[in-house]
This record gives sequence, C-alpha cells and structure tokens, in this order.
Amino acid sequence: MLLLAIETSCDETAAAVLGDDLSVLSNIVLSQDAVHAPYGGVVPELASRQHIKSIAPIVRESLTAAGVALEEIDRFAVTQGPGLIGSLLVGLSFAKGLAYYHRKPLVGIDHVQAHIEAVALEQPAFEYPALALIVSGGHTSLYFMKEKLRYELVGRTRDDAAGEALDKIAKFLGLGYPGGPVIQKLGEPGDPARFDFALPRMSDRSLDFSFSGLKTAALRIIRKNGLAKDAVQLPDFLASFESAVVRALLENLFEAAERCDPKTLILCGGVARNQRLRTEFARRSRALGLAAFVPSPKLCTDNAAMVGALAWARIRAGLAGVDTCGPPLDLDAYPRLP
Ligand code: KG4
Ligand code: ZN
Repeated sequence: MLLLAIETSCDETAAAVLGDDLSVLSNIVLSQDAVHAPYGGVVPELASRQHIKSIAPIVRESLTAAGVALEEIDRFAVTQGPGLIGSLLVGLSFAKGLAYYHRKPLVGIDHVQAHIEAVALEQPAFEYPALALIVSGGHTSLYFMKEKLRYELVGRTRDDAAGEALDKIAKFLGLGYPGGPVIQKLGEPGDPARFDFALPRMSDRSLDFSFSGLKTAALRIIRKNGLAKDAVQLPDFLASFESAVVRALLENLFEAAERCDPKTLILCGGVARNQRLRTEFARRSRALGLAAFVPSPKLCTDNAAMVGALAWARIRAGLAGVDTCGPPLDLDAYPRLP
C-alpha cells in the first residue's frame, strides 16, 4: 500500500511517498527561506503564494523520485493544522482535489504530532510512556504520551516559540533568516559563559515556557555592549544566548520528566537540529538512564515524511476513519493548537 503525504503548514512546500511498512520512497522539501530572508521572518501572504506555485511540481517530483504513478496511491494525507491558515489551505485543498478525483481516502494530520512521529521513521519501537519536547519556529510544547497516539499537553510557550526568539535576535542583528542555524554557526567558537542570562521561572509551578524575557535580556545586552554584526564579542554573545535558550528548554523538559516518570524522551522540531541542544539532551538523558531519541536533522525541520508516518500509524490504529468513508471533503484547517 502506498500513501502520498503533503505538508504546507508554514514556509516549506513538501510531499512524500511512503509504503505501509514506513519505508520512505521519496521525501521532497522545497524551502522558501530565500523568499522570506529579506524580511527576517515568514511573511504569511508570500508563503501562501509560494505554496500555490510550488505544490503541483513538488507533488509531481515526489512521485517521480519514488517511481510511482498517482494512480498507484492508495491513501492521501495532509497537514490540517496548526500553522499559517493561508498556507495550510493550499495543501489541504490540493490534497482534497487529489483524493476526490482518485476516489481515495484522505487523512488529516496534526503538524505538531507529526513532528513527534518523525522519530518512528528511524526508531520503529520504543517504550511508553514517553515525554516529547517539540521545539520549532512556531511551537514550543511538551507532550506526555501514556501510549502511542495519546497526547497530553503538559506545557507550552506563553509567548514566543524558542525558534522564534532565535529568529528575532538574528533579525535584530541583521544576521539573516532563519536565525537558528546562523546563530549556531557564528556562535560556535564563542564562550557560552561570557554573558549572563537569568532563566525564566513560572511562579505557579507550571511546565509552560516563556522566551520573551530572554529576548528582552538579549536586546539589553546588545544595546549595553554596542554589539553589531561585526563585533568581536558577537560569537560569545550568540553562544551565551543559544546556551540560555537550550537551558530554558531542558530545565522544563527534565522537570517534567521528574514529575511524569516517562521511559522515553523525544526531542523534535526544527530547533532540534541545534547541536548544543542535541548534545545536552543526550548527556542529561544518559545521566538519568532514560532512552532518548532525536530525529536526524533533515527530519527535524518541516517535511512530509513525518506526516505520512503519522497517517499510517493512525490508519493502523483505526483512528483515521478511512475504512468507512471516501475522501472527507469537510476536513477543515485549524491555525492554532486545538
Ligand atoms: O519545524 P520548523 O522547520 O518549522 C516550524 O514548524 O516552525 O522549524 C523552523 C525553526 C526556525 O525557527 C529555525 O531558526 C530553527 O527551526 N532552526 C534552528 C536550527 N535549524 C533550524 N534553531 C537552532 N539551531 C539550528 N541548527
Ligand atoms: Zn514544524
């Protein structure tokens, strides 16, 4: 059985073909980074317009790369939300058209849950309960999973997502977009202990995140030290800021691990490409004797293979409603976490 998955929740147009054994026959991602770079962040209307241009060629490319004809596809899957509404609607409408014309079932997929499922593409079996930290440009959330496909939101950001904070500071310094990779690269030779950042604390013992305080502290340090793009102290500053974001993320994750007692920890989403975060996550998990998984970098950022993986898991668990009906043409997009 073959499934074609489509992902257009933000600024990547992506399509993938997967077998029901989770083999990835193709995984094509077209990034719009160059389109949004001059603005230092994603411009929603431009993102929708790019998806409109790219969706058909990317779907075609995913089929060609997989060596599969559209008529051979048994199931379609598409990201339903959360994300930018105009971007989501392009992928959703395109997928509905395909499912309708070919009279095949369509599975609507949650983007954040799909980021978690990316792990299953490389790590088919792990023990539950699991605790997953999803950290990207749009989301910073902690999910406790008592068993597969059961998600309990135990913490989320109250303001910016971690990736958003990295992107905004990079934008302020004129370093380009996306900010995460450039901060990692320029901060690599820097001293992460050179600038002091106080970590945010929730007064109500909640496991929520907050990054606006770190962002304000970063802006204060930039102004006080006259830091600019070519400043000698820039690598130290970027390493210190990145390290503070990593500590804020992991403090919460490991506090949650203490309270929820999971057997497995998962780190995923675009910011999970970050080397400092990956290294610290692995080190602290090992110290606690917990199994810990992070998808390989290309499966951390937005892609359609993760959407396909979750679709197959839901179909297998009988949670997709695909055996009883044809294409669900009333599937709607949702912009935020439901
Ligand atoms: O998951 P993703 O592709 O899109 C969203 O769903 O948001 O994540 C994009 C985010 C951006 O904020 C980008 O700066 C960040 O992931 N990112 C990184 C790295 N690579 C991408 N952040 C830190 N270090 C990286 N190496
Ligand atoms: Zn994402």
